[in-house]
Amino acid sequence: MADGPILVIAGGAGFIGANFARYVAAARPEWRLRVLDKLTYAGDRARLAGVDAEFIAGDIADPEAAASVLAGARWLVNFAAETHVDRSLQDAQAFLRTNVTGTFVLMSAAGDAGVERIVHVSTDEVYGESHGQAFREDDLLRPRSPYSASKAGGDLQVLALHATYGLPVCITRGANTIGGWQHPEKAVPLFTINALLDKPLPVYGRGEQRRDRLHVDDHSRAVLSVLERGEVGTVYNVAAGNNRDNLTVVRAILERLDRPESLIRFVEDRPGHDWDYIMDASRLAGLGWQPEHDFESALNLTVDWYVEHRDWWEPIVSGEFRRYYDRQYGQRLATSEAYRP
Ligand code: NAD
Ligand code: TYD
Repeated sequence: MADGPILVIAGGAGFIGANFARYVAAARPEWRLRVLDKLTYAGDRARLAGVDAEFIAGDIADPEAAASVLAGARWLVNFAAETHVDRSLQDAQAFLRTNVTGTFVLMSAAGDAGVERIVHVSTDEVYGESHGQAFREDDLLRPRSPYSASKAGGDLQVLALHATYGLPVCITRGANTIGGWQHPEKAVPLFTINALLDKPLPVYGRGEQRRDRLHVDDHSRAVLSVLERGEVGTVYNVAAGNNRDNLTVVRAILERLDRPESLIRFVEDRPGHDWDYIMDASRLAGLGWQPEHDFESALNLTVDWYVEHRDWWEPIVSGEFRRYYDRQYGQRLATSEAYRP
């Protein structure tokens, strides 16, 4: 184990947090890594295999767990959150508890522990829909789903702790992130896995909504840039400019896998489905960050990872996930429409 300063990574067993842990372990080998994660259905220690990090199972909303994990730490990055919009539409309780209360508890404990620098990881979804106009960091927050409203609540608590007590914190607001190790219920893994299993790909509405597809390695590099060079009290958008509508994404996945477009099914739309989230990331560019992956690179790397890692996702999609899948898609697929090019 390294013996340098301690970086605490909350939510470090999740998709982006674990990618960040792997990246920092290689880029800053002298740092000591300490991961705090509750291991919800979305957390998995397998993502941290081979990473030299202390692992503590615990909840960011538990003041004792937060205080004990932060003892002696120099830095904190918080990825811990409930993250899936569709689950927040089924039951938002856990979203409020973790994303608002948990964020407040963890950040307060970091202030008490004298942590020197903090990054709180947030999302473009707090701005609401952009309708083609790129969001800047000082724009109003108009979140439209229980998930994004809970993330906005967390952001506002973080900024309040900075204004009130001088908490040394920055916020990053990242775009839709893709890459290996993302939970199979999120859109790109779900479409890829269904295509590999020759099952229908359930596209909400007509697949017209657009998302920026940021590769997870670019997201991790952005968070480290902000931790090391960001201005305290400042928000940084993390956008790749890879905006594509969902139908384009699904067709690109099928093409990569050489599967037929007849697998595409238009299903009942997500209620309150946000149209798009376009962001201006020039403030982050001022710290020297640029995305390295364009749309094709980010998507192809992701699809290929799922082709090569059936051993990871097959047990997940055959477990508790089946109940979630049936609840979310059973009725939708029964009343779906085929895609006709
Ligand atoms: P994820 O769902 O894969 O991982 C979340 C992790 O947090 C899991 O390991 C889970 O066990 C842990 N966790 C949940 N509740 C916790 C609690 N109360 N205490 C401790 N740990 C807890 O999510 P992700 O995609 O890796 O997202 C990480 C962060 O990035 C989130 O804050 C999310 O809002 C943000 N973000 C995600 C995306 C994206 O597209 N995935 C885009 C922008 C921002
Ligand atoms: P998702 O990965 O849930 O991210 P978010 O809603 O946070 O942006 O979904 C990405 C896009 O894909 C979004 O526009 C919703 C759409 N989508 C579908 O069309 N079908 C699906 O089964 C899922 C999960 C998402």
